[in-house]
Amino acid sequence: MHKGANPINNKRKFISKERQNATRSLFPEVFVEGKINWERLQLALSSEIDSDEEQFGLTWKGKRDCYRLIHPPALGSLEPVYEESVNWDTAENLFIEGDNLDVLKILQNSFRGKIKMIYIDPPYNTGKNFIYPDKYSESIQSYNVNNGNSKEKKKSSLSQNGDLAGRFHSNWLSMMFPRLFLARTLLTEDGVIFISIDDHEVYNLRQILNEIFGEENFVEEIIWKKKNTPPNDKVIGAAHEYILFYARNIRKILLNLRPRTPKQVERYQNPDNHPKGPWTAGDLMSNVKGGRYVKSLYFPIVNPIAGEEHFPTSNGNWRFNKKKIDGLISKGGIYFGDNGDRRPKLKRFLSDVKEGAPNTTLWDFVPLNTRGSLEMKELFGISTIFDNPKPCGLIIELLKLGSNKDDLVLDFFSGSSTTAHAVLALNEEDGCNRKFIMVQLAEPKNVDSEASKAGYSTIADIGKERIRKVINDIGNPCSGFRTFKFVKWDN
Ligand SMILES: C[S@@+](CC[C@H](N)C(=O)[O-])C[C@H]1O[C@@H](n2cnc3c(N)ncnc32)[C@H](O)[C@@H]1O
Repeated sequence: MHKGANPINNKRKFISKERQNATRSLFPEVFVEGKINWERLQLALSSEIDSDEEQFGLTWKGKRDCYRLIHPPALGSLEPVYEESVNWDTAENLFIEGDNLDVLKILQNSFRGKIKMIYIDPPYNTGKNFIYPDKYSESIQSYNVNNGNSKEKKKSSLSQNGDLAGRFHSNWLSMMFPRLFLARTLLTEDGVIFISIDDHEVYNLRQILNEIFGEENFVEEIIWKKKNTPPNDKVIGAAHEYILFYARNIRKILLNLRPRTPKQVERYQNPDNHPKGPWTAGDLMSNVKGGRYVKSLYFPIVNPIAGEEHFPTSNGNWRFNKKKIDGLISKGGIYFGDNGDRRPKLKRFLSDVKEGAPNTTLWDFVPLNTRGSLEMKELFGISTIFDNPKPCGLIIELLKLGSNKDDLVLDFFSGSSTTAHAVLALNEEDGCNRKFIMVQLAEPKNVDSEASKAGYSTIADIGKERIRKVINDIGNPCSGFRTFKFVKWDN
């Protein structure tokens, strides 16, 4: 390639109007007769261009094609399905049946920057789940077909990404990358995304999320304890899964604290009738590892009743200086034991601590995975109607952490619609008006499956029916959802 040649593959034809406009507003000087002049763009970016061939990052066979999948517009539209909806006229919730790649593109028109929280539970790439083959060549062919450039029809089918399929990780990553890329732009500036995943792809998923969201927007890797008894067919039986948590912009997010449990509140008592209310005894020593000595914080605290002197232990010094401690003693803020003869402790008042308990990465306080199937049994009478639905309580906890009031919540691998169920149930509990958008492929159920026997031929059918049942059970006349189907345009 000669110096200055355009390294961008010429096949990459689709750059959305929005991206073109953004580039134009940042670098007007690089446009020549409506086209980007590569050499001018290089000059404009010169100090930022890293031309080193060896670069950090995850790469796989087909990654380049992923970028080509992102930009072509969806070749179809959403058609309303009134008869499958509830309260169409007033409903603000949406269920969209279709491939989420197409649907995420269509959602960009009306929902770009509007979704506060995304939760997804994609196929885990266990070798057993189905994934949709988005072959770039197929989409180009389809694009040409739909633009009258060819008489051939696009053929696409669901396929199993088995261990023996070759390119096992590559196929999965190629499926996830464009979808996550499109999902990010739907988030509000303070929006968050939670992704359930297990050990099969967690390390790869984190790398592509770092690439798409920026490593600085990684919030946490939550560990969900999903089983009490780990499977014994493995070297070490996994009793947990992960929930990767990223922000659109970590500087903008404001997470809710967890409400204190009755047990946590019980620790606060008021045996001395202190006017500030219930308190619990906390450490008065400063929390410095290794015992950093600060001279002004090393002094005796004198018990005002017994007159006994207490010095900091050898681990360090007091948390506050003498003036502050004297002030606390005079206001009854220091505790010397029930009989007034113990080492001093700080009274921590419930009225002073934050509204809720801090969030943690270890989620052993939410329901186990078995609860998900029980919930399906309660609704459908059959626990095996859908494989491995997430328990509502898990999603409710995520909603409490990442959403409020009227927020819009998206799940584009919605399966049995647990996320919709959780949104409806939590709104009922806390009076908020969160709204959901569920996206689910019409993945067919095997004819011998319990679902088919019960009359649900696709996973989308199960998801829609679940929402109808939950709306019916909750009995809120204002609840509803609109159903749409993604329909490809004929050539
Ligand atoms: C693990 S399940 C989600 C389960 C869900 N969290 C629940 O609790 O029911 C993943 C779902 O993603 C769906 N899916 C896979 N590829 C898809 C695609 N390209 N577009 C839309 N849905 C897809 C599958 O049909 C499956 O139902």
